[in-house]
Amino acid sequence: MIIVIGGIKGGSGKSTLATNLTVIRALEGKRVLLVDADEQRSASDWAEHRESLGITTPWTTVQLIGSSVRSQLFKMSSDYDDVIVDTGGRDTTSQRSALTAADIFLAPFQPRSLDVWTVGKVTALLAEIRTVNPKLKAYAVINRADAQGADNQDAAEILQESEGIVYLATSIGQRKAFANAAAEGLGIIELKLQDKKAVNEIKLLCAALFESKEAGKA
Ligand SMILES: Nc1ncnc2c1ncn2[C@@H]1O[C@H](COP(=O)(O)OP(=O)(O)O)[C@@H](O)[C@H]1O
Ligand SMILES: [Mg+2]
Repeated sequence: MIIVIGGIKGGSGKSTLATNLTVIRALEGKRVLLVDADEQRSASDWAEHRESLGITTPWTTVQLIGSSVRSQLFKMSSDYDDVIVDTGGRDTTSQRSALTAADIFLAPFQPRSLDVWTVGKVTALLAEIRTVNPKLKAYAVINRADAQGADNQDAAEILQESEGIVYLATSIGQRKAFANAAAEGLGIIELKLQDKKAVNEIKLLCAALFESKEAGKA
């Protein structure tokens, strides 16, 4: 299964979610390929940092850029259970190319007006992509949710009302553990000092994304 984590806004948490989902799925024993389709190389830098620290890394990381991402993904996907693609912070050729090959698209949104207002551009992009890839499933999730306040709810309502993308209620809170883990080349489920709430949230998101698909296959 090919899952693309994207959108058109930087800082929404694409690399954070891509790397953390990779760690969870790989530690569950899945054969995982993490594809960095962002010129900024955040996911690759994180994986390199991890390997330089000598931490066991039971998945493969590659960087793919440009219009050949689609064909490369198709060639590689049969060797893996999951292919998780991290994309850059705007509408790039790499993201479009990846989306034409994807089964699932996940767009994280910060609960801020300027972020959630981009959902219209994201759904327009999805409509274009679906002309060549009609099977593409698309999900929106709130990342960096506030501990409290009305902004989460306002953002959720806008995302829920958007056509062509399914809103997942498995929000991820604003949690320091994500930055702490990334700095150590880890996913949050690997931190010695566990942030149980953060771990629970990312596991629920992982289940929402992968289990629906796996149940569908059975
Ligand atoms: N749920 C979260 N809680 C706290 N910080 C987060 C969370 N998600 C992402 N971040 C931080 O926000 C910044 C941007 O995240 P990143 O994953 O690099 O975004 P993107 O890849 O979409 O540009 C990083 O410093 C990251 O550690
Ligand atoms: Mg990124």
